[in-house]
Amino acid sequence: PVKVTLQTKPLGVWQTAMAARRNVLEIVPRLALHQPIVSGKVGMRFHMVMDPESLRHVLKDRVEDFPKSITTKLILNPAIGDSMFVAEGAHWRWQRRAAAPAFAHRHVQALGPVMSAAAEASCRRFAAASGPVDVFEETVSATFDVISDVTFSGGTGFDRDAVHHMIDTYIAQTAKVSLLDIVGVPAWVPRPGRLFSGTKMAEMRRIADQAIASRAADAKTRTPPDLLDLLLDAADPETGRTMTRTELRDNLLTFIVAGHETTALTLAWALYLCAFDPTVQEAAASEAQSVLGDRIATAEDMGKLPLVTRVVNEALRLYPPAALLSRTALVADRLCGREILPGDLVILPFYALHRNRLLWDRPDAFDPSRFMTPPDRYAFLPFGAGPRICIGASFALQEAVIILATLLARFRFAAIPGRDPEPRMILTLRPHGGVWLNVHRR
Ligand code: HEM
Repeated sequence: PVKVTLQTKPLGVWQTAMAARRNVLEIVPRLALHQPIVSGKVGMRFHMVMDPESLRHVLKDRVEDFPKSITTKLILNPAIGDSMFVAEGAHWRWQRRAAAPAFAHRHVQALGPVMSAAAEASCRRFAAASGPVDVFEETVSATFDVISDVTFSGGTGFDRDAVHHMIDTYIAQTAKVSLLDIVGVPAWVPRPGRLFSGTKMAEMRRIADQAIASRAADAKTRTPPDLLDLLLDAADPETGRTMTRTELRDNLLTFIVAGHETTALTLAWALYLCAFDPTVQEAAASEAQSVLGDRIATAEDMGKLPLVTRVVNEALRLYPPAALLSRTALVADRLCGREILPGDLVILPFYALHRNRLLWDRPDAFDPSRFMTPPDRYAFLPFGAGPRICIGASFALQEAVIILATLLARFRFAAIPGRDPEPRMILTLRPHGGVWLNVHRR
């Protein structure tokens, strides 16, 4: 199996803080991979939790005592307001209840044709390419096609290129966790870059508002309904409350922000891993070819592609797009025998969890067969867990399997020596400089 090197360095406190500006992953010392918890103080007290029992405690059993951290809110509020992703308590609960039916199995399955169409368009672009291709840029186009179609049906008044550009600018400019955040400088102190992107966000909200207004005026029924239709109709089953225009817009933008780059990253890392392990690639390609023949994969193929699905899971293990989440402790507690004080930052470093030596056999090896037996529930958390688990998990898996199976059946991906992507944590775990591969038709 291919050895995938880990991008972490043991660093001193000052170097750690400086490095964190560039790459938060570097604050995970190598040592952490042999331990269930690592605590320290860089401006504020922090604990990195990699013990499955403690993760269950934070994410499920005592979820109310560990709300999303102040840093999380600070970064995401300008983009997605107080939508489901950042809200807490009753305000979170009702938004989640109202949106849940839109992500039920039958709705996700009904969105399959949009995903298949994106896979087909992606094949056309690969077929037209000559020379090395940045497959990350390509998969971002594919998943953006999907998310803009299922949120706004690509429809009236929604300038998808403009929105895409604004999200990209926002993430690139501001989502780098600032040194000021790490050392605990209060939120009201302006961060460089964040002010600039604030204007980009205002523009994005304006575009989304326009799209919602034109949809509300257009009573045409779509089959299947898209996420905007479903949210316009969504009501809290307990209270009957429906979403205001602002809540509707913030949640749709949340789906776009949370739902397209994460899935694109999963696909790009999966293609990179396949390129480095031709044996796995050929096995997955022949599974896809025998199920699909000449056609594009559909939602109905999901159960018939077990190896492709394991490749997706193994990519999510080695390169979890949400590589690091954080919570703020509200009350005194103990985790793994450590004292947790109110206000402490509790970091959930999924990248390190998924490579922890105490939990995984040959953690740095790319080996999809490890998923033939399900891993410990709280050792593999690409979508989080508990009540705040990703609402789009089955949507994302279906999309990733449809696109990956279709691509592997038609193309062979080959690594380019000396052009390994470097994973960097910039809100999500991104390949710095892209994922460049040679692509050949089969
Ligand atoms: C939440 C990962 C795709 C919408 C989350 C969380 C993770 C995650 C780890 C939990 C965050 C936390 O607990 O702080 C991923 C990954 C994806 C993906 C790795 C792709 C491979 C999607 C898609 C959508 C989506 C496709 C929507 C179309 C959301 C929303 C939440 C969320 C709305 C907040 C849920 C809540 O707090 O109730 N995601 N996600 N995600 N995700 Fe995803």
